[in-house]
Amino acid sequence: EIYRASTTAPVNIAVIKYWGKRDPKLNLPTNSSLSVTLSQSDLRTHTTASCSPSYPSFDSLLLNGSEQDVSGARTQACFRELRSLRRNLEGQDASLPKLSTLPLKIVSENNFPTAAGLASSAAGFAALVRAIANLYELPSSPTDLSRIARQGSGSACRSLFGGYVGWEQGKEVDGSDSVAFQVAPESHWPEMRAIILVVSAAKKGVSSTTGMQTTVATSSLFAARASDTVPKRMKQMQEAIQIKDFETFGKITMMDSNSFHATCLDTYPPIFYLNDVSRAAIKMVEAINAAAGRIIAAYTFDAGPNAVIYYLQENEAQVAGLFKAFMGEKDGWKGTRGDAIQASEE
Ligand code: DP6
Repeated sequence: EIYRASTTAPVNIAVIKYWGKRDPKLNLPTNSSLSVTLSQSDLRTHTTASCSPSYPSFDSLLLNGSEQDVSGARTQACFRELRSLRRNLEGQDASLPKLSTLPLKIVSENNFPTAAGLASSAAGFAALVRAIANLYELPSSPTDLSRIARQGSGSACRSLFGGYVGWEQGKEVDGSDSVAFQVAPESHWPEMRAIILVVSAAKKGVSSTTGMQTTVATSSLFAARASDTVPKRMKQMQEAIQIKDFETFGKITMMDSNSFHATCLDTYPPIFYLNDVSRAAIKMVEAINAAAGRIIAAYTFDAGPNAVIYYLQENEAQVAGLFKAFMGEKDGWKGTRGDAIQASEE
């Protein structure tokens, strides 16, 4: 007998960045963050979780057809939390099959080319956690699941909600209040678009986990960012989203990306995620906004050189059209919120 459940979770792109952990084991951040979850039809991970007495006696995870190591502390933390919730249910109702004792088989597929060089840990852990929660028929809310997914990868907690999503840093040492929350559903501001500029498909040089630890340990700029800059921006950003003020949304998005990359440069040894193509994309956004006489496009960069450009549907031609014309051919997939275009490395 095989028990099975499937789900999908989309990628999210932060407009106020998570960078820095106050507890690396529980993935508790030094500041709150905020992101936009892409549409289900766009970049997403599809995951099937199954368990069976007939499976080999170990847990396994297949990502895009290749076997992954599940022995890492993060994956183990997710498995452990979900199994323990299932065990509670089984303890309350003896008629339930003892799924918590069975080996798990997780099969995940990303619908975007791995070559797109996009971080997939957010969608990956969000889908993994929800697939297992579905398999175990847990009564958990998205908030509960975000608390578990956070332990897999911090940014994953935000992919449990659609639309505009915050991650409250929380105060508790056990991380119980460090969870994601929905600022507004996608339908609140459906005109929002994101285009992803694939500058490099190469794996990033310094992983976010390692990078942020070094930043916390060495950057003096970082302390001010966490204590002062981000809390103010979290407020302003939520207001901008509530009143659908793209100029403020865009300005904070760009400034927060710059602030995050400034702390990277202020890290010792310094971390460089942006390259010349990234900087050219920033200049193009500046030129687009200058020509429009207001902010109609906003760039943001995660721990790598690829740009994500936010804009509103009404400015499609001026923003996405221009980037496509400049950067050349589009990649092989397209969606309402995420549309990748490949830039040449030179
Ligand atoms: C720059 O969530 O990948 O994308 O918690 O160590 O897995 P871990 O880090 P991760 O970091 C994401 C950093 C970021 C900003 C963001 O998404 O908020």
